Amino acid sequence: MKKWEDKKWVSAQRLQVDFNYAMAEFVGEDNGVSNKEIRGLEPRAKTVHNQLLKKRSQGALAFYDLPYEEKEAARLVTAGRKIGRACRNFVVLGIGGSALGGIGLQRALNHPHYNLLSDAERKHRPRLFFADNIDPDGFQGLLDILDLRETVFNVISKSGGTAETMSQFIYVRDRLIKKLGKGGHRSHIVVTTDPEKGRLREIAEREDYLTFPVPAGVGGRFSVLTPVGLLPAAVAGIDISMLLAGARDMDRRCRISNLWKNPAYLNAVLYYLTDTKKGKPIAVMMPYSDALYGVADWFRQLWAESLGKRTDLDGNIVSTGQTPVRALGATDQHSQLQLYMEGPNNKLITFLVVERLRKRIPLPESFADVEGVGYLGGHSLNELITVEQKTTELALTRNKRPNLSIIVPEVNSFTLGQLLFMLEVQTVFAGGLYHINPLDQPGVEEGKQFAYGLMGRKGFEHKAKEFAERPKKSGKYII
Ligand code: PA5
Repeated sequence: MKKWEDKKWVSAQRLQVDFNYAMAEFVGEDNGVSNKEIRGLEPRAKTVHNQLLKKRSQGALAFYDLPYEEKEAARLVTAGRKIGRACRNFVVLGIGGSALGGIGLQRALNHPHYNLLSDAERKHRPRLFFADNIDPDGFQGLLDILDLRETVFNVISKSGGTAETMSQFIYVRDRLIKKLGKGGHRSHIVVTTDPEKGRLREIAEREDYLTFPVPAGVGGRFSVLTPVGLLPAAVAGIDISMLLAGARDMDRRCRISNLWKNPAYLNAVLYYLTDTKKGKPIAVMMPYSDALYGVADWFRQLWAESLGKRTDLDGNIVSTGQTPVRALGATDQHSQLQLYMEGPNNKLITFLVVERLRKRIPLPESFADVEGVGYLGGHSLNELITVEQKTTELALTRNKRPNLSIIVPEVNSFTLGQLLFMLEVQTVFAGGLYHINPLDQPGVEEGKQFAYGLMGRKGFEHKAKEFAERPKKSGKYII
């Protein structure tokens, strides 16, 4: 029996949302949400729920179907194993939604210093790198430490035209050809892109690269459960079948229209109400777990790019969106917390709380005679991080700063699948509440088009001209 078929195990692994301290009862009417306000949104929530169901049935929200692609997952496990046996380094070339999901999975589910483990400790799986920027210093720095003969590059681009990823690709390809010859380089490039469209698809077919599809209708930031996130995870030995099982379990919870029972909808409502009614335009996600910091980074893109929109679905200027911030407990208690506690009361803070961390570090009895140090002996780092989360939560609440906790029983593929899927549903549901399209990113396109124009891409000459005619900067403002 698979673990996720064991009802008892599953119920012990389910995520919970504790939103007590986001409620007016605890942080006051000005900052917290009341039962009445949530109830007031029920009719609207029902409409959004029905809209999502309709879109889902029309295939317009294809990410909802990904947890059920079990055959594809099995194919990826086999492919990942094979690729993993053939190389010592696996490097993802991709940016934004083509990188952040994979980074989140790797950080959450593998050893925190996976790449520094010995081959045997990594079970002879390759080291895993994500090159998600084009800073020449950073990119060359990575290439400096790789033996190209032992390296496979996974070029990931849904559109197949992203300048950053395509530049990395052509540079790496050229280096590979110089080292291994035209024929030899082929097995060192694996492409993940649209199954039919795009320049990268064209090139992959012409060059006969191994390819994996990003299903049509799944945009970059919703693609973590496609080969975009799953192939690198499978190569690094992550249990991707369990990840999908966790997402399926969450999908069942997120099909309920009653928002008091649906964790994704309830979260969306809390974020939406605190933003639009309580003056909280900033949403901080603060895991008390190093493993979940990558998830906070992934969510930062998901929430920002999906909800930050100039116009609503009727074309009205609305300029929506909460600014997502990631913070890490306990580290950022010594960096950001002072601001959260006493600065502008304009944030909703979401803690990611892990009930059982993987390791336990007991603290030895030491310096019993030194006041201020001795008391730590006999406790554990686990106790300390738990106590710090709980006390931060309470202190924020006493300062009338709304906060909620997503409680993760332990970090494993099953709970991570639940968490990622819940946050995706939360995002599209919030899109419905804001009455905007959460699936596009027109603001990013404009910058991309200027870059194409300046880099001489055909068809974008007008953007180069517009750029040349930009308002000139004055020397008097440069010192
Ligand atoms: O979420 C998105 O759509 C974006 O962040 C994209 O993932 C990012 O721009 C990269 O695009 P692509 O995968 O087409 O190269």
